[in-house]
Amino acid sequence: MTQILWDKLRELISNRIGFIIRQQDIQYFQRKIETRIAQTKYKNLEEYYHLLNSVSNKNDRFDSSQKHSSEKEWNILANIITNGESFFFRDRGQIDLLANEILPKIIADKREAYQKAELPFLTLKVWSAGCSTGEEVYSLAMLISELIPDPAQWNIVIIGTDINQSFLDIARQGVYKKWSFRLTDPLLKVKYFLPHKQNWQIKPHLRSMVTFYQDNLIDIENISHHNYGLDLVICRNVFIYFGLDSISKAIKKIASTLRPNGYLISGHAELQAINLDNFQPISFSESVVYQYLGENQANHDSQINSETTTKLEQQVINRVSLAQQEPNKLSLISEHISLADKPVTNPQFNKAKSELNSSKLQLDNIQILLDEGQYYQVIKQIKQLIKQQSDCKELYYLMAQAYANQGDLEEAQINCDHALEIDSMYIAPLLLLAQIAEEHNNHRTAKELLKRIIYLEPLSIAAYLDLGAIYRNENDLHRSKKMYQAAYDILQESPRNEKIDYQGQTKVDDLLNHIKSKL
Ligand SMILES: C[S@@+](CC[C@H](N)C(=O)[O-])C[C@H]1O[C@@H](n2cnc3c(N)ncnc32)[C@H](O)[C@@H]1O
Repeated sequence: MTQILWDKLRELISNRIGFIIRQQDIQYFQRKIETRIAQTKYKNLEEYYHLLNSVSNKNDRFDSSQKHSSEKEWNILANIITNGESFFFRDRGQIDLLANEILPKIIADKREAYQKAELPFLTLKVWSAGCSTGEEVYSLAMLISELIPDPAQWNIVIIGTDINQSFLDIARQGVYKKWSFRLTDPLLKVKYFLPHKQNWQIKPHLRSMVTFYQDNLIDIENISHHNYGLDLVICRNVFIYFGLDSISKAIKKIASTLRPNGYLISGHAELQAINLDNFQPISFSESVVYQYLGENQANHDSQINSETTTKLEQQVINRVSLAQQEPNKLSLISEHISLADKPVTNPQFNKAKSELNSSKLQLDNIQILLDEGQYYQVIKQIKQLIKQQSDCKELYYLMAQAYANQGDLEEAQINCDHALEIDSMYIAPLLLLAQIAEEHNNHRTAKELLKRIIYLEPLSIAAYLDLGAIYRNENDLHRSKKMYQAAYDILQESPRNEKIDYQGQTKVDDLLNHIKSKL
């Protein structure tokens, strides 16, 4: 009986908020929900289930006060089960795409239409759906501020919505810890934030550009009047927790808010297997973007001919072949973890090689989960794997990253230490430890670790850059410049278009420009 009730509850949750509790996570969620039931007046799972069910039940036997209690409990449950991991400028590739292609294109089109009097006002409307604690929305606001030098001429609407009310409270406050800025250009941080105790608060003018409100993405009957005629919707790292039906509902809702030719950006591979008839996918090397074709445009993509091909689409067609030549995300990841590349020289070559390949596959899969932000899963899987592979340094480092991204720096540190016990010259955990030391304002330790990295790997660009930043913060400009110069000299040896792994995948050219500003 209890098992049947748990299954029904899982189904109810999936139907109401999209969230799929997967088989392997059931126990974890059951514990969470049991803890919640113990805090309520409901005696057991059955009563709790009936409370949750009464809101969606059209049956009159549930009076309005019961429905009200049910709504309230759904809010609490959503707060308990949703994962809100986020940070500024998350996914550098998509951010570059927004900054260099999509937003400039939207803005230029709007200006042109306004000049031709096809538009009565200059308007820009964007929505971050599933915005969590606000980092994504404020990142958009910063990008837009950088791209629109005459904001007074514009009517700019930037909306952030989430189902989790407590995340929205944090977003409205706009106060963030250092860890949220791990991919933020320090210049932007200073430009758009003010120090606030140990943290940073978004400046009022940027805060005032953004509106937050609660919204359930799969409640398709309920769309706020703000959300019409949107130019761009960003919905990233939300659908990874959804079932296919719920994603389809959410996409329907998003589509109905976009203007024709408006854009949708989702996380990588989050929309695979979803029917996107009303959208034209456009492939950039950084990401796929979906352009809304309008309500009556289903299956229209085959009719799109050269006459209707926009300038952007033409650029895209040019770039697709380029993108196909570039290494994809996966191969960059496997470069990072080079276990399978180790020379194997013993007689059992084939066996050893196949074991290595399967280890590499496991590591690659975990890396994908990590990139998707599924930190709980990463930790859980590694804990299992470590029982058989307790000497695999990469597993400890992946676990350290998952903990760090969850904000548990203590556990991150412990796992970096384990990795270093296995290989004291392993650079990646040393770098993470240096970042953690910085996070704790322990500049001395951070500097020692970075110097050790440079000793072990004299071409470590990341170490020179991080050290340069610390000296700069300490006002030791002489040393800071020396560090930046060293990074610059090393980087100049690399092809300009190559991407290197520094705070996400960064183009050599962009990094060189960034360093130039420090010299
Ligand atoms: C991992 S966060 C992603 C935050 C941000 N988009 C990013 O990529 O950094 C996922 C967010 O989706 C929200 N979410 C989950 N289900 C939702 C639903 N049905 N409607 C609206 N938001 C939802 C969660 O509350 C959480 O804040």
